[in-house]
Amino acid sequence: MPDASDTPQGPRHIAIIMDGNGRWATMRGRPRLFGHHAGAKRVREVVEACPDLGVEYLTIFAFSTENWKRTQVEVAGLMSLFRRYISKETRALKERNVKVRFIGDRVRLDAKLIALMDELEALTADCTGTNLTIALNYGGRDEVARATRRLAQDVAAGKLDPDTVDEETLPRYLDTHVLPDPDLVIRTSGEARISNFLLWQSAYAEYEFVDTLWPDFTGEELTRLVNRFGKRDRRFGAVKP
Ligand code: IPE
Ligand code: IPE
Ligand code: MG
Repeated sequence: MPDASDTPQGPRHIAIIMDGNGRWATMRGRPRLFGHHAGAKRVREVVEACPDLGVEYLTIFAFSTENWKRTQVEVAGLMSLFRRYISKETRALKERNVKVRFIGDRVRLDAKLIALMDELEALTADCTGTNLTIALNYGGRDEVARATRRLAQDVAAGKLDPDTVDEETLPRYLDTHVLPDPDLVIRTSGEARISNFLLWQSAYAEYEFVDTLWPDFTGEELTRLVNRFGKRDRRFGAVKP
């Protein structure tokens, strides 16, 4: 079992780009959606591994603003999977004291899904355990653009003095405004790219790109990555004495 004592400087916030579902299914001669269903099943184990690893925040990339480019069948299948996942997992998440939030732009999501998201957020609002954030129709550039729009509206309304805008101002307008920056960003499936995930927030994150396809990712692998994180020297631009 993972042990917090093994990871004295463990990551407080882990963000995961859950990639490789499609290839996992294709390797088995099955449709891509089969891989998405297998991938959704992995989330529970990873969420449950967090408390023992000292991870307070877990953010998972479920659907990007670019994923609408996929076939209508895949997009509709994913939306239906998200609805089913939320309905099925709500009780377990609440019982495990997991506080759920969603980030991303909701405007393109269907009303039924939005209602389920609102309900899950409301039901777990008082939970004090792991903070699970699900990025759905999320894109880092889209998030910064939406934040900038609201910031500009506040300036236009006279609520914000443009001369006071600095690095602390923009994050207050981001979807992630209540979250700390991620310490560790993990991407599965062997791709070494960010694909528009948490662009602003990950400025000083440590990265792990692992070959495992998301449906094969386990709590054990997460533990291994957390332990490796503990050995990293994070300098944030400074020189250690
Ligand atoms: C990640 O798996 C899940 C989503 C992007 C929704 P992919 O569907 O990208 O799987 P690959 O990368 O094609 O294998
Ligand atoms: C990133 O994976 C998005 C999610 C995991 C939800 P993609 O599979 O969409 O990214 P690219 O297309 O390989 O960059
Ligand atoms: Mg992919």
